[in-house]
Amino acid sequence: MVSSNFISLVTSLCLANTVLSFIVRPSTSSVLSRRLPFSFSSLASRSQQQSDNAMSEILSNLEKKIQGENLSQEQITGVIDKTDLVLQHLDGSSEEGDSDELQLRLRQAVKELDVDTVTSFASSTQIYMDEKTTDAAFWAVVNAVDKAEAEDLPLSENITMMLHHIFDADMRLLQDREKQTFNLTCMQPDDIQGDGDAARRMNYIFDDGDHKNLPLKEGRRCEGGNCCDECSRNIFTTFALESESDLEKFPGLVALTFNNLEKVDSASIIQFVRLIERVRRSIAFEYGLPLKTILPLQAYSRKYVAGTTQQGGGGGEGDFVILHTDEATHDGYHYSCVLYLSTQGEDFEGGNFIFNDPLKKTEEELKKEKEEQERKEKDYTDELDAKLLEALRRGELPEEPLDLGLFDDDDDDSSSPTSSSEEGESQVSLEEQIRRAGRKLTPYHPVRGSAVIFSSGWENMHEVDKITSGTRYAVPCFFTTCPVPEMAYTQMKVGLPKSCEDQADDWLHLLLAHRKEEPIEAVGRVKELLMKWHFMCTPLEMH
Ligand SMILES: *[C@@H]1O[C@H](CO)[C@@H](O)[C@H](O)[C@H]1NC(C)=O
Ligand SMILES: *[C@@H]1O[C@H](CO)[C@@H](O)[C@H](O)[C@H]1NC(C)=O
Ligand SMILES: *[C@@H]1O[C@H](CO)[C@@H](O)[C@H](O)[C@H]1NC(C)=O
Repeated sequence: MVSSNFISLVTSLCLANTVLSFIVRPSTSSVLSRRLPFSFSSLASRSQQQSDNAMSEILSNLEKKIQGENLSQEQITGVIDKTDLVLQHLDGSSEEGDSDELQLRLRQAVKELDVDTVTSFASSTQIYMDEKTTDAAFWAVVNAVDKAEAEDLPLSENITMMLHHIFDADMRLLQDREKQTFNLTCMQPDDIQGDGDAARRMNYIFDDGDHKNLPLKEGRRCEGGNCCDECSRNIFTTFALESESDLEKFPGLVALTFNNLEKVDSASIIQFVRLIERVRRSIAFEYGLPLKTILPLQAYSRKYVAGTTQQGGGGGEGDFVILHTDEATHDGYHYSCVLYLSTQGEDFEGGNFIFNDPLKKTEEELKKEKEEQERKEKDYTDELDAKLLEALRRGELPEEPLDLGLFDDDDDDSSSPTSSSEEGESQVSLEEQIRRAGRKLTPYHPVRGSAVIFSSGWENMHEVDKITSGTRYAVPCFFTTCPVPEMAYTQMKVGLPKSCEDQADDWLHLLLAHRKEEPIEAVGRVKELLMKWHFMCTPLEMH
């Protein structure tokens, strides 16, 4: 029943009261004329810089051949493969120098949006874009998009193909950066035990105790979706590089929603999509899911300002977020991420992201506790005996009831409810003490560029501490594994992209067209964008 519900999921998130209104594309520009077939002319100019080098000679010979006749892609790759073999024989000694030089060559190619060179470098020389080359590719794409807009031309298919190369490079580069994974037992409401259904709804908004006391059982709920059976939390210290989360470079990242892109610069829009796609691919990787089965359902950048009140999701300001479970907030949320665009201690104070778990005792802790209890009981008895004996010796009964502090907990170890928080406040309010009782709080201190990615179920209840000063920018995003019904695509004015040109058109119309729209139009566009996400962000052969 829920499996065909992707549309209603998206609709309920984008805006209320919407029917299946897929976008009608205004003919704002002369984007109908398509471009010339590929040419290889750019290879010629490029290799001249190193004409005294043996490699360049071979490459330029190759270019002549290519220019002389129309070669198939396989033929070209074959020639380059052989060239590469020759190169290895020629200069096996200075491997590093070669790869530097090749990387420079690759960098030059991306600046010209020469996607074929990037493809053949990867397949034949195993040279991939490094951070600097990926950055150059990104800005080449942004410039090409801006140029196309200024000239009212369609987007070149090279733009989308280069974006796919960038997304691939991003994932490869991410694999080398620090990540911490914490495996968890998946949890879901135990509907038989309690009034789970009702409690899963919005009650937590009024009473967080209601949420944390929800009876749970093991397992993944993942309504209508195809989640992995394993749950976890992943912390990426450098999910985005400094330059990628720079709010001066990407002013639009301060408060971006897909519903309102008219005034957002293309660099910010493309960078935002790039980061969300990186999250989507990381989820596929971490949870071993086919990329195609994971789609964003909600993603926006959000500003939290000290001293303001929360105005609900969807980009409003606010200075804290109450304890909740993402999947309880929305059935369709199966994987979650928060990406940080500012740093605690620099840009704001407070505002920890906190995982809030039931205080689980290890067997050892339980055993220790039992021994402690027995010891105290024994002390009590011993002391009682001593006092009684003393009293009896004096021929009198003790005047006061014997209170030997059996229930005074003078330990300060982890069984104390407040000690698991690293806040270390000396004066935690009574209310706060009650709130924390029996819970283990694991705070994460946000750092710009870092990200927390986790399964959205009840194993990952969390909250955001009040921000005490400054402004905190973050990008929450939520992904679903609910499939999009085929019907949804056939109802679109323009269906799924079948060529690179179609993909380029989707990027233009669904993201980059900078047009004024009515809210209802925007909803239709965002719906289509989210449903087509995978088809826009991956090469055709992955569809
Ligand atoms: C190469 O292809 C182009 C366009 O498809 C065509 O006009 C041209 O004649 C071809 N050249 C050769 C040498 O086959
Ligand atoms: C697109 O890529 C091809 C092949 O890599 C290249 O030859 C061509 O110059 C590029 N076209 C544009 C418009 O950037
Ligand atoms: C977490 O689970 C994965 C998959 O089951 C496993 O490969 C990994 O070693 C586990 N990590 C830890 C820290 O237990």
